[in-house]
Amino acid sequence: MRLDKYLAEMGAGSRSDLKKAVRAGRVTVNGSVLKDPAAHVQADDEVRLDGEPVAYEEYVYYMLHKPAGVISATEDKRQQTVLDLIDERQRKGLFPVGRLDRDTEGLLLITNDGELAHRLLSPKRHVDKVYFARLDGPVSETERKLFAEGLRVDETLTALPTDLEILDPASEVRVTIREGKFHQVKRMFEAVGREVLYLRRLSMGPLILDESLPIGAYRRLTEEELSAIMEV
Ligand code: URA
Repeated sequence: MRLDKYLAEMGAGSRSDLKKAVRAGRVTVNGSVLKDPAAHVQADDEVRLDGEPVAYEEYVYYMLHKPAGVISATEDKRQQTVLDLIDERQRKGLFPVGRLDRDTEGLLLITNDGELAHRLLSPKRHVDKVYFARLDGPVSETERKLFAEGLRVDETLTALPTDLEILDPASEVRVTIREGKFHQVKRMFEAVGREVLYLRRLSMGPLILDESLPIGAYRRLTEEELSAIMEV
């Protein structure tokens, strides 16, 4: 791949700035200054910008604080997708791990690691997903018990035992599901006569939404988050 393209894909800056940086002699490849932005580099070359390594990474992992109003897809002709929120230079090959509804906010993992995604989404693994929900009215011990026993939603879905923590006010809840069926949380509440007015994912397995991340922003997973998620 071309040197300037390589640097841009690694997120080192814009293509035009990087061309200038290369021409200015700020980039070394395997210890030698290369001043030609069109020079070819390979994945195992050691590239440095201002002395700092710009390493090729096969897999990348981002935490996105998903806003309402964007769909969990990689591209769409009409609607904004979660990948549209990722810097264009960093977007290639990425996809969201699972789906949140268009109106749902919160934690979404974005990666190009298909194997990890498969593990996290596998119905056999029952990775816990915790949501905060605001309902159109209060729920009580009756609903908590129904959820705990494994609620029959309809002929296609009987949910696994689900923790329902009733917050104050009682129309706000924290719910932990162990599977990820289509519109699962909304359908479970609908089955007990309640409508979900607002839904936000707080965690997925060991990965917890970083509340300091502004809505619509994303960041790389930390080393700790990454090693925790790899254990799943
Ligand atoms: N359950 C839902 O109903 N919607 C989501 O976005 C996630 C879980």
